[in-house]
Amino acid sequence: MNYENRINELMSRMTLEEKIGQLQQCGPSLVGSFDVDVEELMNMVFDGRMTKEELMALLASSKRDFHEDDLRAGRIGSYMGVTHAETALRLQKIAVEESRLGIPLLFACDVIHGFKTVTPIPLAESCAWDKVLWEKTARMAAEEATSAGIQMTFAPMVDVSKDARWGRIAESAGEDALVNGAYGTAKVRGFQTDDPSRPDALSACVKHFAAYGAAEAGRDYNRVDMSRLRLYEEYLPSYEACVKAGALAVMPAFNDINGEPCSSNRWLLTEVLRNQWGFHGMTVSDSNAVDELVNHGNVFDRADAAKQALEAGMDMDMASGCFIENLKVLAESGKLDVDALNRAVADVLRVKFTLGLFDDPYQTTTEREAAALMSGEKRTVAREAAQKSIVLLKNNGVLPLKAGTNLGIMGSLADNRDEMLGTWAVDANSQTCVSIVDACKAQGILYTYFKTAADACASDCDVILAAVGEKKTESGEAASKVSIDLSAEDMEILKTLHDAGKTVVTVLFNGRPLAISWLKENVPAIVEAWHPGTEAGSAILDILFGRVNPSAKLTTTFPASAGQCPMYYDHINTGRPGGKSKFTSKYIDAPIEPVYPFGYGLSYTTFTYSGLAAKQQEKGVAVSVTVANTGDRAGDEIVQCYFRDPVARRVRPVQKLADFARISLEAGEQKEVSFFLPYETFGYYDQSMSYVVDDGEIIIMVGGSSVDTIHTNLVLART
Ligand code: GLC
Repeated sequence: MNYENRINELMSRMTLEEKIGQLQQCGPSLVGSFDVDVEELMNMVFDGRMTKEELMALLASSKRDFHEDDLRAGRIGSYMGVTHAETALRLQKIAVEESRLGIPLLFACDVIHGFKTVTPIPLAESCAWDKVLWEKTARMAAEEATSAGIQMTFAPMVDVSKDARWGRIAESAGEDALVNGAYGTAKVRGFQTDDPSRPDALSACVKHFAAYGAAEAGRDYNRVDMSRLRLYEEYLPSYEACVKAGALAVMPAFNDINGEPCSSNRWLLTEVLRNQWGFHGMTVSDSNAVDELVNHGNVFDRADAAKQALEAGMDMDMASGCFIENLKVLAESGKLDVDALNRAVADVLRVKFTLGLFDDPYQTTTEREAAALMSGEKRTVAREAAQKSIVLLKNNGVLPLKAGTNLGIMGSLADNRDEMLGTWAVDANSQTCVSIVDACKAQGILYTYFKTAADACASDCDVILAAVGEKKTESGEAASKVSIDLSAEDMEILKTLHDAGKTVVTVLFNGRPLAISWLKENVPAIVEAWHPGTEAGSAILDILFGRVNPSAKLTTTFPASAGQCPMYYDHINTGRPGGKSKFTSKYIDAPIEPVYPFGYGLSYTTFTYSGLAAKQQEKGVAVSVTVANTGDRAGDEIVQCYFRDPVARRVRPVQKLADFARISLEAGEQKEVSFFLPYETFGYYDQSMSYVVDDGEIIIMVGGSSVDTIHTNLVLART
């Protein structure tokens, strides 16, 4: 749909102040005036120092007008952090019915992995390698969020993340560009549908553009410095995939790239995003990021920050106030590129038209909201997502547990609903979550919950389930760590149980890869549950008792130590890749191999691969392989297709994911799986930034893990 005429006509009637007002997004602290700083309130809820109910009571008691004069004067274009239909509708009514031009507001919020019905954190759900599931959970989140008056989510986050120290790896789809791109594309489809004007369509906002996951030393907000080659090959493709999928918004990242902060990076926001990728949506800053250009040191003051950001390609200013405070004076004094201002306003209006807000600004009702939240099949979807995100890392045969197993349970995380939500579940009610203990009670499982390891050791339980790992606040934003080890308390529990000869099944709750070498060596079974969301306990018991066969595969490498970070599968060979000699690329105090590699995950059945063939065709390479289920029960397998270009004009990774497929096989069943790899798959940027595809040998590797593949070679000869 083309809205340009309607946009131009409306803009011809807008005053300078009304134009600038469209670029102002009020953060939570501007949604209303509170006695206490809202940011602090949000942190208190995140940290568990305040329950949501206490916060809501405080809001109800202290909120006053939502800057209603600003709304009537057209000085606010959007709010973030409004999460109730009643509030959104009241604000919208003022904007539409009491302002001069009646331009509708855009309500945005962080709906990252569910709204009220919470699905596993993105890093977990990415381990499902399931595009259908990814789209389905996004659609469910959109149904809930739009019912509450939200029209844009600050998701998907597709920052390729190769460093376990970085807390926001929890929000990503892991270390691979293709997986992040596939995940993000599915999310854009699920949020927006093919008709973004639908009342239940939610605008995606792809973030954080760009390469935020490459923060030096894994320290959040830190610098990002890399070649254009690497940026284009490893870090930009996931955002580009989402833009090509039709994402209506993009959020520039807090970090700089090679000295240019993303928020004022003209090359990134105009040359790449708009000129190269053809993006016609809107950009919205990260929270206060325009103001933070002053800290970065590439602008003189807030006014200069507003100018540099707007002229570089930033359309909307989240929460900093730099735009609303400075653009008018800059424009009137001839110090602002007015074309940039008009571009920004047109971008914002285009998204509002596309979302149908001009035709129907009140896209929900409180009745729709009440009917939508946590209703119908939403818990079933959340449970399925958790089942498919749980990675079986080790199993010496103790799993699946038999019915009637006398189960001991240890670890506070086994009986904590709130921690199951994970990071960025900003509006969920933890009391609706199901913990492991809740699930045991609901399912009549024979269990004993032990507070001390001594009691567990003295018991006659057949198996002790040890729930260990991270609280939800130990990952996510501003949660980088220098250690990715389990806590001393967790290790104490595990070693006490081990030394007592107890049969232990470890369930990990975490938002990042953890260094679990000791577990791998000493514990019979390890189940990676991440932070699985609303139906955590139900899904975990489904896996433990074998009602569901685990199928998830890691999308992030598990290092042996933080000292190895960043660690990832698609590494280069180096000139001294390994072998008997001392003088090879390695550590003298840690292995060079990961504890668990990218693409790895076990099942209760087994799969074999055979008959791999790769044939050159006119526009690419056709790959086929036969996968057989050689075990005694049905299962899903994630078939991974990698390639290596052993000789090129520059060094290339030893392995790169080219495609993947999730298949279901009955016991004894086999299927032929096919991939078609266009020639561009094998290409790379040369030093002059030309994208080249060489003729010559290519190695194709296919298997159920990056380290367990069968190979075939072929020689590309396209001429
Ligand atoms: C935060 C995050 C961003 C989020 C935004 C709004 O600082 O960086 O991911 O969408 O602010 O909450």
